[in-house]
Amino acid sequence: MKAAIIYWSKTGNTEKVAASIRQGLEAGGADVVLKRAEQAADVDFYDYDLICVGFPSYQWRPPKPMDQFLTGKFNAYRREGHVKTGAPRVPGKYALIFCTYSGPHTGIDEAIPAGKYAGQFFEHLGISVLDEWYVVGEYHGSVEKSTMGRLGDIQGRPNEEDLQAIQQDASRLPLLIESYTRAPLQEPADKEQ
Ligand SMILES: Cc1cc2nc3c(=O)[nH]c(=O)nc-3n(C[C@H](O)[C@H](O)[C@H](O)COP(=O)(O)O)c2cc1C
Repeated sequence: MKAAIIYWSKTGNTEKVAASIRQGLEAGGADVVLKRAEQAADVDFYDYDLICVGFPSYQWRPPKPMDQFLTGKFNAYRREGHVKTGAPRVPGKYALIFCTYSGPHTGIDEAIPAGKYAGQFFEHLGISVLDEWYVVGEYHGSVEKSTMGRLGDIQGRPNEEDLQAIQQDASRLPLLIESYTRAPLQEPADKEQ
């Protein structure tokens, strides 16, 4: 199974999560390419069984470099005719969205819109979003936001335990995707239609 991890990170939280996903996917038997968004313009989503895209939530949206990456890729695929009415699913093509956040004001609600927004770029291309992972991350540079927000004291997050759990979850994805590819009708996403 081929996987690409494309991420953007300013203060390192998302980068740590990306590295853990890589370790997990490799432990599960995947071939993994890992790139920062700025260096990923040449990645063809359809070359991979799984595209993992990660970023911090900035004002409940993906930050500008990630938005520019997603929009640029999407516009190019649209010009090539990949955006079709009804967004038919391309068999065997999946995306995983991971978003780190501090939730200082409204908790996870200020990360979910960013994850949903990013996921739509893939769903519109027929690439099914397997899951969205929201990972708590310290708000570097603000003790107040890292200790007094909705999530309480989040200093040091994501910590070793968080990263271990992510690695574990990621290690299961290659087998999961293989089973979906063998029996596509069992995909949870299809049941929701
Ligand atoms: C400019 C800016 C805006 C942010 N906006 C949000 C936000 O809307 N919601 C949230 O939960 N966290 C917000 N955060 C916190 C980051 O999403 C969080 O700390 C993230 O884990 C940082 O990731 P990074 O270390 O990979 O850059 C913001 C941080 C910055 C610097």
